[in-house]
Amino acid sequence: MKAAIVIALTFASLIGCTISQINNPYSSEGCGKVRTCFSKPPDCDGPTGSDACEMFASWWPSNDNESTHFALFGHSRGYIAVGISKSMGMPDTDVYACTSLNAVKRSYNIPNGKFNEPKTLIGVSDETVTFDDNIVKCQFRRQQSLENGDDTYFNLSGDHLYYSLIALGNNLGNDGTITIHDIDKQSSDKPVSFSSVDKVDTDVTAYKLTKAHAALMIIAWIGFAAPGITVARYFKPAWEKKTACGEKVWFAIHRFDMTTAFLLACAAFVLIFVAERDYVGPSEGTTRFLHAIFGTTIMGLAILNVIMAIFRPHPGTQRRIYYNIAHRSVGLLALTLSVVTIFLGLNIKDPFLPNVSETAFWVLVGFVGFHLLTWLSFEVLPIMIKPKKDDPPLVEAAPESDDLPLDKETGSVNEDETDQDPLYKRVLLNVYSLVVIFTSTWVATMVIISKQD
Ligand SMILES: *[C@@H]1O[C@H](CO)[C@@H](O)[C@H](O)[C@H]1NC(C)=O
Ligand SMILES: *[C@@H]1O[C@H](CO)[C@@H](O)[C@H](O)[C@H]1NC(C)=O
Repeated sequence: MKAAIVIALTFASLIGCTISQINNPYSSEGCGKVRTCFSKPPDCDGPTGSDACEMFASWWPSNDNESTHFALFGHSRGYIAVGISKSMGMPDTDVYACTSLNAVKRSYNIPNGKFNEPKTLIGVSDETVTFDDNIVKCQFRRQQSLENGDDTYFNLSGDHLYYSLIALGNNLGNDGTITIHDIDKQSSDKPVSFSSVDKVDTDVTAYKLTKAHAALMIIAWIGFAAPGITVARYFKPAWEKKTACGEKVWFAIHRFDMTTAFLLACAAFVLIFVAERDYVGPSEGTTRFLHAIFGTTIMGLAILNVIMAIFRPHPGTQRRIYYNIAHRSVGLLALTLSVVTIFLGLNIKDPFLPNVSETAFWVLVGFVGFHLLTWLSFEVLPIMIKPKKDDPPLVEAAPESDDLPLDKETGSVNEDETDQDPLYKRVLLNVYSLVVIFTSTWVATMVIISKQD
């Protein structure tokens, strides 16, 4: 019995010893057993080799449980940082970064917004930082709590839990402090312990929301807004004798397409704010920033156009012409900007943004070319093909036709044409519709199924 107790005690002390004795802290050794590991990809092993990690953070309590050891590494020319966070994202986070200038830097991310304040390094000892082959590696020990620490020095002991963040950036500020994490970032999906061994899972909500944002925007603008505007521009005289839902057919299609586009875009707009938790600032890269500025402008234009459409003056009234000009210009501007913004979006270097294949990019380029060619055909072909009589070309007649109430239109100039659009127009519209459906569905699917690099 006594011997058993002795053996048990010896065993316990051995285990106690192994807690802070990890031979290679820059590997997966002891992960989940004697230390907590949080990495990308999950369960990776070391900075090189077939199971290499892009970034890795791990921590384990010291024997006296007064301090926590940290070991981090990441592929970067700038820094690898671990964040102890009261929020799931950047705000209210105590950050420890190991930089390529072989220093450990501390900063605090303010509760509202994405700014960080450099802080004096306190409660940290035993730092070792190396920078080799574009890999930053480091270890340090942080006191779990400090009597005279500031209130941004979070107390890690006891049952205090925090979200854990890791971030990787290529650039340092002039004073060696960290700047935007331009390479990668991730957050734990729930608060974890920094004073005992815990299991950390990556939060993928933001990643999924970002994908949904991209897919919905592509469907909204390419799948609905582009054909909706095309029909209004070139097919007002079409299906003249028919009505849909008591409206002229072009108008019914236009209204359905544009309403759908608007609602999808609104949903996508909300999703990206939920994912980002904040507005994108200029420090987060020009492409991202421009994407955000353009995107917001487009939403403004879209809302403006919906309001204008709701309060449109009746056809035939004097102010109708101003409405027509304003509604068309705003719509066209929004559609043009949306294409630019989608391309900007696909070029954002963001860890949460799926790595959409280059094929998707070229399919979109092809679509833009095809769309412009279709519009050009609708502009040019009527002039080239049409004039048997001295009728004005079909397209030019189009803008006026919506200014007339439905019943008066039977006597309009291009009666013979309006009844039945020329064959080429109907064929072209069908081809255009197929291309729209294919492009929007395919690119949106590529975005949804794409994986993080
Ligand atoms: C940190 O938290 C522990 C456990 O809740 C507590 O006992 C300790 O006093 C705290 N330290 C400081 C400096 O507040
Ligand atoms: C350190 O303290 C935490 C919180 O009280 C506890 O869960 C953990 O088991 C302790 N670790 C060691 C090595 O004593």
